[in-house]
Amino acid sequence: MEFQFAAPLVLAHLHSKNRVIRSATHSFLPDQDGYMTDAEYAMYEQLASHDVGMIITGHCCVDPLGRANPEQVNIYDDGYAAQFRKAVAICHEHGALFVPQISHAGPRAVDNDDLADVVARPLKKGHEARALTVAEIQHIEQMFVAAAVRLQRAGVDGVQLHAAHSYLLSRFIDPYFNQRTDAYGGSIENRFRMTEEIVKGIKAACGEDFPVLIKVNCDTRAEDTAAYEADMVWLLQRCHEIGVELVEFSGADFIRLPKDRTLYYLDIVKRYKQAVPEMPVSLVGGARSAADMEQVLASGIEAISLARPLIAEPDFVSKQLVGGEKSICVSCNRCFALPHMHPGVRCVWAWKRLRAQQKAQRQKA
Ligand SMILES: Cc1cc2nc3c(=O)[nH]c(=O)nc-3n(C[C@H](O)[C@H](O)[C@H](O)COP(=O)(O)O)c2cc1C
Repeated sequence: MEFQFAAPLVLAHLHSKNRVIRSATHSFLPDQDGYMTDAEYAMYEQLASHDVGMIITGHCCVDPLGRANPEQVNIYDDGYAAQFRKAVAICHEHGALFVPQISHAGPRAVDNDDLADVVARPLKKGHEARALTVAEIQHIEQMFVAAAVRLQRAGVDGVQLHAAHSYLLSRFIDPYFNQRTDAYGGSIENRFRMTEEIVKGIKAACGEDFPVLIKVNCDTRAEDTAAYEADMVWLLQRCHEIGVELVEFSGADFIRLPKDRTLYYLDIVKRYKQAVPEMPVSLVGGARSAADMEQVLASGIEAISLARPLIAEPDFVSKQLVGGEKSICVSCNRCFALPHMHPGVRCVWAWKRLRAQQKAQRQKA
């Protein structure tokens, strides 16, 4: 059977052997000093050798004040760049593209007592965030650009800006978080300004043909969802004008959705795609089978991105190509907690399977 997801993805400056993207997924495998470990490299090898066309890394930190996790890959100074060369080589060896996701955690940062957000607000556990000044916004923009320059030198195929899931850039874009009244708040043009200035800064420093991708929420928790939908159409048009390579749509609430739901954001993203057909997009959220992936591509969306199915089964795409069953992932989200309880273990269902196989082997022996 010929699958549409097996067809090449040809973007302006990125050619992928197929239309399957490993969406950015924090692996909990890096060390606490900001470096990839052997286990992290082994994960990339598994994904790349099992038919994932483009691998986007977990969020890599562009600013020491914006770290999201104690174990996270850093890219905020030159010393962190060399580790990416090895990951690029592993992926290219298997014909996969390697695209680091670069991010700032904003008020979700760890190890930072001076938390700052798009506007001042109370946070959990009695903490307060203060509002970023314009000078600070511009400094963070420069940190993103400097990270992209380092990564380009390390040979990556492009970078993705993390502007989803309430990390800093998404807090500017989303009116649920952004109530600023200056040039970075109000209209979508203003709320997108920080992300746009980063894209333009990267293009100026790395060249127009260096691919810049953006991950963004297709929806909002703000009341006026119709206005947000109009904003997303504007954002796609703007992304096309400023040379963004691909917009990957996720959503604000993927963790809280019922476990039996699939393709959470397909209907809304289909509408965006129809409104701005010229801008390439990918969809992430709830694809659990070849049929799901085909349904997304049949709607005109260029690529399908996967996260939890590839935690559960890194060879999921290879298995789908030969008629494999749907994913063992049931969206239980224990992949967020399990690695802390059992370091190195990422999916409870894959772990149970492995232990059952080991038990069976022991009984045979
Ligand atoms: C353990 C875990 C870590 C994640 N880390 C990131 C990340 O670093 N950056 C990001 O943009 N999204 C991250 N995500 C979100 C996924 O990329 C994806 O948007 C979401 O899981 C929905 O897709 P899925 O249904 O295919 O899992 C993470 C998700 C999980 C479960």
